[in-house]
This record gives sequence, structure tokens and C-alpha cells, in this order.
Amino acid sequence: MLAAAGQAAGEKFEIREALIGGAAMDATGEPFPIDTRALCKEADAVLLGAVGGPRWSDPNATVRPEQGLLDMRAAMQVYANLRPVKTHPALYAASPLKPDRLEGVDILVVRELTGGVYFGEKSRDENSARDLCAYTRHEIERVVRMAGELARGRRAQVASVDKANVMDTSRLWRSVTTEVYAKDFSDVQLEHVLADAAMMHLLSRPADFDVIVTENLFGDLLTDEASMLSGSLGMLPSASLNADRRGLFEPIHGSAPDIAGKGIANPCGTILSVAMLLRYSLGLEELASRVETAVFAAVAAGHRTGDIAEPGGAALGSEAMGDAILAAFDAAG
Ligand code: IPM
Ligand code: MG
Repeated sequence: MLAAAGQAAGEKFEIREALIGGAAMDATGEPFPIDTRALCKEADAVLLGAVGGPRWSDPNATVRPEQGLLDMRAAMQVYANLRPVKTHPALYAASPLKPDRLEGVDILVVRELTGGVYFGEKSRDENSARDLCAYTRHEIERVVRMAGELARGRRAQVASVDKANVMDTSRLWRSVTTEVYAKDFSDVQLEHVLADAAMMHLLSRPADFDVIVTENLFGDLLTDEASMLSGSLGMLPSASLNADRRGLFEPIHGSAPDIAGKGIANPCGTILSVAMLLRYSLGLEELASRVETAVFAAVAAGHRTGDIAEPGGAALGSEAMGDAILAAFDAAG
């Protein structure tokens, strides 16, 4: 898709590949080898496939493939993870929610990605374990600012999700956000929503949300839930940006061990991540929209992988689905 987009734009993208996760552990013993780290720091943008799998999932192992992904996010300093959730009438039937709830849903979740419990100190012995959740004012401020700036190009509403009734990190999150928005984002409407309630409102009134900003773990949970609005976890892309808007682009789904190697995974999340890469890291907005239009044109024309197939309808393999999207992309040229 990236090569086809480059050709359409008359740009030649230099695409280089490197290992991460389980494949990297097999080849080098490390989930994020030094060569991969160097390449990530050099590249304008990184497109990532999923990491992990049952082969590397021993709960007592000291290194897991996921560590490679966390190290990569930290190395690239991509603190803001953008996960857009939009519904399309063609996919209403694939969602467990009633169609009237899905109408007009257009949410951008901005998940803090390089802090919180994911990166806090950890320890474990036979009888106890701890995961530290820590945030600094700086970490909170930069991501809620990014959310505010993005909201300005949309409906100018931000829901900040926390657990300020229980957690001190959330109390800091809430006060920093209130302060920053009062000072610099008076044109943006800010509301604070407790995480448990947000999870519920996401199902009962999803169309009311515009931008949601939240910390790392809540954002992880919230976006898997939100993906079901779009029909399937396989549909959702993401962009993780640093201060220079250089980024890491990946679908939000994981390695889907239950279907791995069968050639039936939905490629839409990855292809839509390519669109976000074109938009945010390369500034090629027109091309990005053309990729997105091609994905939904193919889906609307009935080309579907199994996770979004129509009841009784045929399910395409990943490659055939990708070809249908490419054909729609070329047809729009
Ligand atoms: C995601 C994934 C990752 C996360 C895993 C694979 C470490 O679930 O990107 O949402 O928890 O961040
Ligand atoms: Mg996740």
C-alpha cells in the first residue's frame, strides 16, 4: 500500500525492514535489537506489525516480545497515541451495538503512551507483586495539549478520562488538565469523566464524544472496547507521535494468535495506519484520504475478511482483501 501510495504521489519512499518482538528474540535474543533501534531513530516514520505469540508467552520468562514494543515507544518518545474510531453504515451489522447508537460516531482517543504503569517500577516475588503508576506534570501537560490542539480541528470538545476518585496520579492529571485548558484552551470544551463511567458511556452514547484524552492503561482498555463500535478490532489504526510529530504507526490489534499464519487477518487496521503515516509524518493529506476512501469503498462493495463478513457472506483472505483495497485505490487515481 505504501509503495502504491508513493507511486501515486510521484514520491519514492525508501522502505527498510527490521526485526522486533518474538522474531527479533529468535534472531538476536533481544526483543528490540540495536539495529532496529538505530533504524527507528533515523526513519521519518515507522510502520509496525504486531509483536508476540504463544511461543514467547511463558509467564515466568524474564523477557517478553511486548517489551520490544514498549522500548520502541520509549526510544522514539512517542508520547501521544492517536486512535480514531469512526463508524460506517456498511459495517453497522458487524458491531454488537444497535445501529441507532452507531450513527455519527467519530471519536479520536488520545492515549498517553510512554508513562504510567507500563513504565513504572515493577517487582514480584512468590507472594506479592507491584506495578508502580507514576506521572509527572510534564508528561500530562504535553499530551493533554496535543489533545486540545487536535480538538480544535474537530468539534472542539475534550473528555479527559481519569480515576480521580481513587488514584493520586489521576488527581494530578485532572488538576494539570484543568489548569492548562483554563489558560490556553478556553475555545475547547473540557469535561472530566471517571474511567468506569467513560467505559459505559462509550456504549450508551458514543456519538457524544469528540476527543478523549487519557493515561496509558485506561487508553489501552478503552480503545479495545471502542473498536467494537467500528465493527472489529481489526479495523482500527493508530499513530503514535512525538514532539516533532515523527511517528510510529500500528494497528491497535495484537498478534491474534488464534488465527496467526492462516492468512485471514483483517489488513484494514494496518492499511489505515499507512494512511495516518502519510498524514501525520509525511504531510501527504490528500493521499491519506485516498487510502482511507479506498478501504471503505472496498468494504462497502462487500469485500470483507471473516471478522467483518456479512452474515452468510463470503470471507476473503488477507491478501485478497488487500488487493481489493489496492484496486479501489487505483480506481480513484
Ligand atoms: C496496544 C497493545 C499493547 C499495549 C501490548 C501489545 C503491549 O495492547 O497497543 O494496545 O498494551 O499497549
Ligand atoms: Mg491494547
